[in-house]
Amino acid sequence: MITIDLKGRRALVTGSSSGIGEAIVHALAEAGADVAVNYLEDPTGKDAADAERVAAAARQHGVRAVSLAADISNAGQVEQMFAAMDRELGGVDILVNNAGIDGVAARCWESNPTDWYRVIQINLFGAYHCAREALKRMTAAHHGVIINISSVHESIPWSGYSAYTCSKAALTMLTQTLAQETADLGVRVLGVAPGAIKTHINKAVWSNPDTLKDLLRKIPANRMGEPAEIGRMVALLASDMASYVTGPSLLVDGGMVLYPSFRHGG
Ligand code: BGC
Repeated sequence: MITIDLKGRRALVTGSSSGIGEAIVHALAEAGADVAVNYLEDPTGKDAADAERVAAAARQHGVRAVSLAADISNAGQVEQMFAAMDRELGGVDILVNNAGIDGVAARCWESNPTDWYRVIQINLFGAYHCAREALKRMTAAHHGVIINISSVHESIPWSGYSAYTCSKAALTMLTQTLAQETADLGVRVLGVAPGAIKTHINKAVWSNPDTLKDLLRKIPANRMGEPAEIGRMVALLASDMASYVTGPSLLVDGGMVLYPSFRHGG
């Protein structure tokens, strides 16, 4: 039967108190998975409240849902988060490495090393820390799926965002290497590479008519993507519908990497 059925699977989605991560949690829960909503604690408590709201919405689908605080750039905190996942949901079958930041826009020679490192620490080291903990469990169980949320910027250079582009290109190589390491151990590792998805991360761009117009010229589909369009794809790839898929990073970008300037002429 052709159906996305994740009943009984336990999923951890990093950085899922808002944006694409939140949409992924909803899609996984809708497909029947129990979910853990990871978030980064902030002093105001806003992220904790948002994560709890996302978990509560997931429970509406009749699944178990918890929120788990951890700074994924910190290996010790990630270890504790997976221990909490074991306690609260009994293990992990699906890890979605979603947490990421664009970072501070600055050309290389104007950038601050601390800002540059932070992007790599979250986007790449964070994914590595979480994959490491997940794979200890998944390879032992001979079962599991890891999905790394990359970006069209795994292949498109982006002036002002060298840390970001490097982190995403490296993340895609991490995907492929871990897929190679685990293919005979019952584990699949793959990537999803979103284009311009309408979230708070790029609000400055889509809320200004001039920059939005410039952005749409870069997207053959002539519209931004919705977070739910990434959520659905992650649920599909995490399910047994994709049982023979391991390694690739799937573009979900309305054609952004298709050299839109070549639609005419050339
Ligand atoms: C970035 C967004 C950007 C999009 C397309 C994503 O990876 O996070 O800020 O709009 O790529 O350039």
